[in-house]
Amino acid sequence: MSDRGPPYTRPVNTPKAGTGTVDLRSDTVTRPTPAMMQAMFAAELGDDVLGDDPTVKRLEARVAELLGMEAALFTPSGTMANQLAIRTVCEPGDEILCHRDSHILHYETGGPAALSGCIVTTLDGGDGLPRGVFGGELVEQSVRPLDQHDPVTRMVVVENTVNRAGGVPWSLEAFADVASAAASRSLHVHVDGARLWNACIACGYAPSEFLAEADSCSVCFSKGLGAPVGSALAGPTAFIARAKRFRKMFGGSMRQVGLLAAGALFAVDHQLDRLVEDHAHAMRLAAALSAMPGVEVEAPPGGVRTNMVFLRVAGDAGDLCARLETRGVRMIPMGRGRLRAVLHLDVDEADVERAIESIGTELG
Ligand SMILES: Cc1ncc(COP(=O)(O)O)c(C=O)c1O
Repeated sequence: MSDRGPPYTRPVNTPKAGTGTVDLRSDTVTRPTPAMMQAMFAAELGDDVLGDDPTVKRLEARVAELLGMEAALFTPSGTMANQLAIRTVCEPGDEILCHRDSHILHYETGGPAALSGCIVTTLDGGDGLPRGVFGGELVEQSVRPLDQHDPVTRMVVVENTVNRAGGVPWSLEAFADVASAAASRSLHVHVDGARLWNACIACGYAPSEFLAEADSCSVCFSKGLGAPVGSALAGPTAFIARAKRFRKMFGGSMRQVGLLAAGALFAVDHQLDRLVEDHAHAMRLAAALSAMPGVEVEAPPGGVRTNMVFLRVAGDAGDLCARLETRGVRMIPMGRGRLRAVLHLDVDEADVERAIESIGTELG
């Protein structure tokens, strides 16, 4: 998918595996590698608000091309990219459809209501579909009639991979079903692709192939790809021009930000294909944990496919996390008996084995 770059090296300021902490809280905890830092130091810069930063322009063009969209806009975060998409398309009183596990619903501080005056209606998925995935029929049934009493159903958001469901990737078929239902009802289809890269690696489709029927997409460089900061919103030229205005309004337009864009470019060029290693580590972790008594690994049929492993344990997940912390293994609770491990480029094979041993000892 991307050019193979220089071999991956451990990040700056990271202790060698086995001596430091195995941080499985999120794939956002990664630090830039020395080679990425060099690319950032060397970046050509300008004032991006005035349209002068060549590195940002290069990143935006590269991302638009990768995603098969007309244009892209660099943003400080995935949250801002999603909220810009919503603000750009919706009016106060509009309705957004999304799965009940969606990031825009749970983790963006009520942004759709606060920033765009929208209500969010959740969809429950369906029989035979993995958690986090829903079907086109449900979308069609959920669209409200155009009536003075009703909110206008304007947008459907598909998250790929679905974070809260355990990193579940959407299949091309499932997405095509939703996209054609949405098109038949004139809904805007936005993809929250914070981890679209992981879905592509796991399922073997190209980003542009997945997004062929999408109207807009957000992607993150600061998660599995390992850049320190940054996301992008992509879509048609007119949509991006309008989103740019709201980016300014939300305070997300930045000046010599090529410094960060260079890290993102480096990540796209050199750290995309290696996501396959994170997925292999997640599968190893899931296999070892599911063999432990008292642990249930949550996974869709076919098992864990990307970089997240969600576990259910008897007792308090917060307590278990606190005990693991004393062993140098960090995970976060996701409810009382549920916790999450996320694999990323600062976790190697030895770290995975150390995490397995520590969890086994604590639960043994
Ligand atoms: C699916 C999804 N969308 C959006 C975001 C938001 O990204 P950020 O933390 O950069 O705001 C996240 C962050 O974890 C995410 O998991």
